[in-house]
Amino acid sequence: MDATGFRRLWDEIAGVGRAESGGYLRFSWSESDLALRGWFDAQAAARGLRTETDRNGNRYAWWDAGTGPAVLTGSHFDAVPHGGAYDGPLGIVAAFLAVDELRAEGFEPARPIVIGAFTEEEGGRFGVPCLGTRLMAGVVDPDRARALTDPGGTTLADAMRAAGADPDALGPDPERLASIAAFVELHVEQGRNLDAPVGVASAIWPHGRWRMTFTGAADHAGTTRLPDRRDPMLTFAFAVLAARKEARRAGGLATVGRVEAVPNATNAIASQVTAWLDSRAPDEAVLAEILGGVTAKVAERAERDGTRFAIAPESETPIVEFDASLRDRLAALLGGVPVLPTGAGHDAGVLAAHVPTAMLFVRNPTGVSHAPGEGASDEDCAAGVDALAAVLRDLAC
Ligand code: GLV
Ligand code: MN
Ligand code: MN
Ligand code: MN
Repeated sequence: MDATGFRRLWDEIAGVGRAESGGYLRFSWSESDLALRGWFDAQAAARGLRTETDRNGNRYAWWDAGTGPAVLTGSHFDAVPHGGAYDGPLGIVAAFLAVDELRAEGFEPARPIVIGAFTEEEGGRFGVPCLGTRLMAGVVDPDRARALTDPGGTTLADAMRAAGADPDALGPDPERLASIAAFVELHVEQGRNLDAPVGVASAIWPHGRWRMTFTGAADHAGTTRLPDRRDPMLTFAFAVLAARKEARRAGGLATVGRVEAVPNATNAIASQVTAWLDSRAPDEAVLAEILGGVTAKVAERAERDGTRFAIAPESETPIVEFDASLRDRLAALLGGVPVLPTGAGHDAGVLAAHVPTAMLFVRNPTGVSHAPGEGASDEDCAAGVDALAAVLRDLAC
């Protein structure tokens, strides 16, 4: 397809949830999420596709055709706070355009083709990434999910109810998984690793999120002698540096990108600091080494600071090796495009444990992601649409 055709559809959602930072506020079940779901429904209606929401709030548009299990494509609408435009929505916009391409050439699928928009992929509101697909796969307990809270204290259950969805329905969906023959997620590449317009994913690094709690004692900033303090901010600062050091030593990544202090006052020593550790590595042994190192070093430091330190997992995701025959089939079909791993998590990583799954990447010229600077050229996005259409044609014939 041509770049202007891509741009035309892309621009329809470019303003939804856009903040002054240039990044996006597209939290699941928020107003902007509902606007995007409305846009999704309108796109489906314009193409005569049947829409449906599953028990976990994931939305689908069905091209009912042929027989047997469906070929699923799609991605997510939600963004990390002030994240970029492409991470997620590109896979949904590309799916509608790929369907248009197949229709225009008169392709008649031998099995249904379905476009999915998955919920809370980033965990940007409720903390657990890929929540919609994890619930579907039965790897997150629905009671735990309903009780998850956003930073304002609203539970997932209440947020769903306010948006007109039913949180009581949340839970494993084996029938849905059995109805999918293959899943292909098109996604913007998120590092500086792809030097062709389109690539195919080989694997997703193992990764996880841990909540770190540092507890001390609140006191006056002007009257408490240094030796008398039990300052959790100090232990927290040590933890940030320890995470970086352990990651470098072991050969992986560690990030502390979110922190909350209580009472969060300039002239009071904090009583408690909560911070979230995100760590990823090429293999599970390296990831375990980083976590073990951070836990031991920070616990030791807490003792010296007179504070308490606790660390608990919020999500842990093992390495995902994508289906080898599907990966090779796609790479060959697309003329030998690059095949590369990624350190970013995706619903494709969750669904890969249940259905043959592959990912297509579209080049990201700067490599910036989860930030307003995330981008891809219209030409490369259009090449991604062509590649996705070729893949759907191949899998649905
Ligand atoms: C999600 O995009 C993640 O990798 O954090
Ligand atoms: Mn993301
Ligand atoms: Mn994504
Ligand atoms: Mn992701």
